[in-house]
Amino acid sequence: MKNLHNALQLKQLYLLKQLGYSYTDIMPSKLETESIEIPEDMISLQKVVSGCHLCELSKSRQQVVFGEGNENADIMFIGGAPSSTEDSTGKPFAGHAGEILTKMIENVLHIPRPQVYIANIIKCKPANNRAPEESEAQTCRLFLQKQIELIKPKIVVTLGDTAYLYLTNDNSPISKIRGTVIQTDEYMILPTFHPSYLLRNPSAKKETFSDLLKIKELL
Ligand code: URA
Repeated sequence: MKNLHNALQLKQLYLLKQLGYSYTDIMPSKLETESIEIPEDMISLQKVVSGCHLCELSKSRQQVVFGEGNENADIMFIGGAPSSTEDSTGKPFAGHAGEILTKMIENVLHIPRPQVYIANIIKCKPANNRAPEESEAQTCRLFLQKQIELIKPKIVVTLGDTAYLYLTNDNSPISKIRGTVIQTDEYMILPTFHPSYLLRNPSAKKETFSDLLKIKELL
């Protein structure tokens, strides 16, 4: 079991950065973190995440959106942040964007949605559907990393800018990087457009379709 002490220190450093510090002698305070640990199995991990209060989003959320799907999936889809429907249902991609994602999975990849795993960079809805802040994404990333570690997908499909940025720390725009296969030590990353973008820009469906076809080749 790994301690979350580092995550909390990192969070404090991000807060200092937001306050304008570029250098500090201030030691992040010693926090009572002995009892917060990252478990090594999915059920316990979900319990820890469901009770997480590491950032301000925990105050306004209705439900934590942990992620769902096949815990032995070869393909994992990662979005940015839950929005209202996900916040009220506790399920990722449960609204209109989710309908598009389901079509991408079932009509293009020809596999049932429950056969893949779907999660987000952050587990709680930001107010007014704003993009996650860096400190929120970095704090929550520990949980996502553990999910990836437990699922061991062959391919991680990142949906949109936010998911790609916070999974890889590369801020290439999605319009440039989409469709590029990035090999890491553990899995391949395939960035593509976010389903919400496709709702607003249906003409980008063609490119997304060709990105998804790569999955079939890669597997
Ligand atoms: N958009 C996301 O990125 N994730 C969701 O779960 C829903 C909408």
